[in-house]
Amino acid sequence: MTAVPSVFAFGLVLFGFSCSAQAYDPHIVQKLHNDLFANYNMHTVPSSNTIVKFRMNIKHFDMVEESQALMVDSWIVNEWVDPRLRWEPENYGGVFKISVPHNMLWKPDLDVYNNANVGEPMSYGNTLLIVFHDGRVLFVPPVRLHFTCVMDLTFWPHDTHNCTLTIGSWIHDGITIDPQVMHDKPEMDVNKLITQDGKNLTRGMWDLLDANITRNVRVYDCCPEPYIDIKVSMLVSRNAPAYDWTVKLPAVGLCILTLVVFLLPPAAGEKVIFGGLSLILDVMFIAYTNMEISNAPTHVPLIVEMVCEQLMLVVASIVVAALTLRMARDPYTKGLHNVIKRPLIVVSYVLCLHNYKNIVGFTRWEVSRAHQPYARTFKSDELELGENGTTHLYGGPEVTTSPGLDWLLLAAVVDRVCLIVYVAIFTINMLTFSAVL
Ligand SMILES: *[C@@H]1O[C@H](CO)[C@@H](O)[C@H](O)[C@H]1NC(C)=O
Ligand SMILES: *[C@@H]1O[C@H](CO)[C@@H](O)[C@H](O)[C@H]1NC(C)=O
Ligand SMILES: *[C@@H]1O[C@H](CO)[C@@H](O)[C@H](O)[C@H]1NC(C)=O
Repeated sequence: MTAVPSVFAFGLVLFGFSCSAQAYDPHIVQKLHNDLFANYNMHTVPSSNTIVKFRMNIKHFDMVEESQALMVDSWIVNEWVDPRLRWEPENYGGVFKISVPHNMLWKPDLDVYNNANVGEPMSYGNTLLIVFHDGRVLFVPPVRLHFTCVMDLTFWPHDTHNCTLTIGSWIHDGITIDPQVMHDKPEMDVNKLITQDGKNLTRGMWDLLDANITRNVRVYDCCPEPYIDIKVSMLVSRNAPAYDWTVKLPAVGLCILTLVVFLLPPAAGEKVIFGGLSLILDVMFIAYTNMEISNAPTHVPLIVEMVCEQLMLVVASIVVAALTLRMARDPYTKGLHNVIKRPLIVVSYVLCLHNYKNIVGFTRWEVSRAHQPYARTFKSDELELGENGTTHLYGGPEVTTSPGLDWLLLAAVVDRVCLIVYVAIFTINMLTFSAVL
């Protein structure tokens, strides 16, 4: 277990032991109190060099994303020696420690430098202090610390933040009050529920990966004395498996949907409808994640960037679909000029568009090199197109040139080029954004 409860357990055992050995006498304790505090001024520092030992036990923490602050519920263990509070236990019936209300004793004026709620001092609650006969004072207040932590949401929803809490004496220099770190790591005692199937459930969605406590000495130009602060740096990472399902999966789904828009055949009207649907889904996703962006408006999380890019691609796909639809379905009286048509046929061959090429018709020279088998294996959508277009596609490679079919070939080429470009972008995207997927 942690060391702080053990301090208490240890103290309680000692206390219990002394109680059983020597009956608790309220009069003696009262006399001790009166003697100790008769001439005690709680506003003066106990000595010219008061060493304050510092330790921390983190009980719960949560990131307040709206204000970019980390809220930490913790027990802060402070220990120092107040020479004015010494007594001989023999003179007081063996009483070797007493409890004292917090408003009767001098306490170090430690405060949070990067407080998120400026003006609200570190609240110590009404915890009692324990004073030992050798002047040692133990103060373990449960405190809620609220300090700023600038968030980098680039890798949202798998972001990790390094938050640093700076605590120090508000007015005293490092000679008067010298904070010392007892343990260089805070104890972490975060509430956890381990379910039967081994899942660790925590109250917040953040995991504390690592934490260090360091003591920093700074000397300013103005003054020779050092100023000391204690920095508690905490590495917290978002642990939200739920986001795998609610954010990452839909984002990948949207990329695939965009791919489908490009995959549909060039003259299919569904392309535009499907594109419109993808557009709406992209916008919904962006609206949903916008809450996260608005918490960190200085940058965009990669996953949102990815979906915004998809949105642009979907818009492009709709524009291309509208163009190819026009090319494939408009009634044309004139075919393409041979200057365009010849390279087009070559390109269509390169792009594996034999089917389209074969229905466009051939010159003698081309017929001799035509791929007969493709000519007879028209796909069903091409037959549909024939109904919409200007000519019937039935026949063989001997079909003569029809102006509409030239344009259909152009549409098919444009569409195929866009598909290839999109697949390239899709692959590059998936590699670029793999860090968040
Ligand atoms: C976190 O920030 C503190 C203070 O800026 C720094 O000392 C520490 O090395 C950082 N830790 C990590 C893991 O980046
Ligand atoms: C849950 O926490 C325990 C320790 O508290 C650890 O050993 C275990 O690996 C954790 N399980 C998961 C699934 O993270
Ligand atoms: C804590 O200290 C170790 C060793 O110096 C370092 O590797 C680690 O990054 C530090 N962690 C934080 C949160 O600063």
